[in-house]
Amino acid sequence: MQFRSLKPSDSSALLQYFQSLSAETRMRFGPHDFDEATAQQICNGQMEKCIAYIGLDNGRIIAYAIVLQGYTLGDYNRYLHYEIEMDNEHDFTLAPSVADDWQSKGVGSQLYSFVENQLRAKEAHKIVLWGGVQLSNQRAVRFYLKHGFRTLAQFEYQGTNLDMVHHLL
Ligand SMILES: CC(C)(COP(=O)(O)OP(=O)(O)OC[C@H]1O[C@@H](n2cnc3c(N)ncnc32)[C@H](O)[C@@H]1OP(=O)(O)O)[C@@H](O)C(=O)NCCC(=O)NCCS
Repeated sequence: MQFRSLKPSDSSALLQYFQSLSAETRMRFGPHDFDEATAQQICNGQMEKCIAYIGLDNGRIIAYAIVLQGYTLGDYNRYLHYEIEMDNEHDFTLAPSVADDWQSKGVGSQLYSFVENQLRAKEAHKIVLWGGVQLSNQRAVRFYLKHGFRTLAQFEYQGTNLDMVHHLL
């Protein structure tokens, strides 16, 4: 398995990855659209303040995570109410995903370790979740707890969700 950031030549493989995601996974993971224009924009580094990482198995993308430096507007407005310091330069917002046929096999954990190391190298202080995590997504909640996140608060948006944070310092 190989992990790296995306490059312009990955755009058709990324689109294929997006198109392969099941309705169930898309219900859990939706930081952006999954169309061709978005895949190109991400691979060309044109998504403002975002970096995307992939996991490859025999040349096929089987895991993908997008990371935003700072906070999305919606997340920022919720986090203002929590008693934590917010730093748009050193805090990063994460949305991870694994291809349906590879979920629950440890790939997400490897991807997360890779991303965490990349962000530590950028002197990250905290990692938060893009739009939180759905409370009903028990696998993801357990996944985040296993990787050092703690729950900050619960909020309602199309169901109950959790804001979770990983302090790296
Ligand atoms: C969440 C996700 C990124 C995790 O990646 P993954 O490769 O499946 O995760 P891993 O195999 O590394 O670890 C999953 C953990 O959850 C556990 N788990 C699996 N199914 C579970 C379930 N139904 N309920 C609770 N825990 C579960 C696994 O046992 C494992 O923990 P363990 O190693 O302590 O046993 C991936 O499942 C995914 O893409 N899900 C769909 C999209 C999504 O939810 N993205 C996150 C949005 S916030």
